[in-house]
Amino acid sequence: MKIDCGEFFLRPLEIEDAGDLAKNANNRNVWINLRDVFPHPYSKNDAMNFIEFVQAADTMLVLGIIYKNECIGVLGAHFQPDVYQHSVELGFWIGETYWGKGIMTKACREFMKYLFGKKDINRIYSSVFEWNKSSMRVLEKCGFKKEGILRKAVLKDGNFIDEHRYSKLKNE
Ligand SMILES: CC(C)(COP(=O)(O)OP(=O)(O)OC[C@H]1O[C@@H](n2cnc3c(N)ncnc32)[C@H](O)[C@@H]1OP(=O)(O)O)[C@@H](O)C(=O)NCCC(=O)NCCS
Repeated sequence: MKIDCGEFFLRPLEIEDAGDLAKNANNRNVWINLRDVFPHPYSKNDAMNFIEFVQAADTMLVLGIIYKNECIGVLGAHFQPDVYQHSVELGFWIGETYWGKGIMTKACREFMKYLFGKKDINRIYSSVFEWNKSSMRVLEKCGFKKEGILRKAVLKDGNFIDEHRYSKLKNE
């Protein structure tokens, strides 16, 4: 599969993306906004393990963002189980060199269209750390609504912080 986004496209990660992925992921300014399962420092071996993991996982759809022949980041949908089976959690990051160019907003819009159109999904949600205004802005530009704040739900870098929960429904 391939999702065209104009200047760039999305496609499933390939093992050959490991070098690009490690280069863009190995950055504290990326790590500080993500869950601790995302390593820091981030090696090529970490990237290979991640790619192999997602290739084998049937509860996730993880796509690389391919810009000028380089894998500059990742967008992932985590399909939820049981009574949440029509919900997905959305996560994303791109390398700092590429921030502020509108890339993630465009990527999220196209990925959402794909999820709502091709998968049996009713709700996409995303969880953002309290300081991450840029991510909140991306979600707002994509039509997500803030559902609430999970007070001090997150322990990141030694501090308890709030998590802001956003969602978008298929019929919105
Ligand atoms: C969050 C992230 C994905 C955004 O990607 P991006 O491609 O730079 O996003 P876009 O360029 O599409 O949009 C960013 C928006 O945030 C705004 N923004 C940036 N910094 C901001 C700040 N400090 N306060 C308010 N808005 C801010 C930009 O102005 C832009 O909005 P605009 O188009 O209205 O001007 C990227 O910064 C990233 O990967 N960060 C590290 C990992 C991460 O935070 N992942 C998300 C976890 S929930």
